[in-house]
Amino acid sequence: SAREQAVDAILGWYGRGARDLPWRRTRDPYAILVSEVMLQQTQVSRVVERYLRWIERWPTAGGLAAADRRDVLAAWVGLGYNSRAVRLHEACIAVARHGWPADAAGLRRLPGIGPYTAAAVASFAFGERVAAVDTNAVRIAARLGLGDPHELLPEAPEHAVTWNQAAMELGATVCRARDAACHRCPAERWCASAGRVVIPPRAAAGSR
Ligand code: ADE
Repeated sequence: SAREQAVDAILGWYGRGARDLPWRRTRDPYAILVSEVMLQQTQVSRVVERYLRWIERWPTAGGLAAADRRDVLAAWVGLGYNSRAVRLHEACIAVARHGWPADAAGLRRLPGIGPYTAAAVASFAFGERVAAVDTNAVRIAARLGLGDPHELLPEAPEHAVTWNQAAMELGATVCRARDAACHRCPAERWCASAGRVVIPPRAAAGSR
């Protein structure tokens, strides 16, 4: 089907030239959780260094759980809302006590972990076949016109994991919200929006 061909083309494209990001080199749920919470508010280029420093200081969930909250907050400066750091700390305290939940549904019961983050950790760390639906996945599915983001998830679990990374990569580097580079898109020939992406107007000053 067109959907399968588009997904395959995007998977192939990801395999050929994705950015080498440190959280893509690990399957440790703690490291992946840290990266995802940081990436919720801060751009990739700025997260890389902060992520590496954080993992060096607190390499495990147990290590972070044992830290003083004030130290955790001090280390979070510049990464956005403090409440995210507090809940990351609390999630690690729960993990230190009870161990990691087995799947995305269990991860959602941890403090501060919403559906996207739970799915991202379950996918990247546990290999669970679950769609990590962020704004990139929503935008790509909408532009392709090939179904909702969950329908694009490949059947094979190992491809599903790659798909979740690939959709983020495509959304960040090619199928961007404000300037889609359709001529560089591996799925251009199956895309309902190729060459006619409508760029949303910027929010008026003061409205954000
Ligand atoms: N943004 C959120 N999660 C990401 C990831 N795993 N890779 C790149 N950008 C991301």
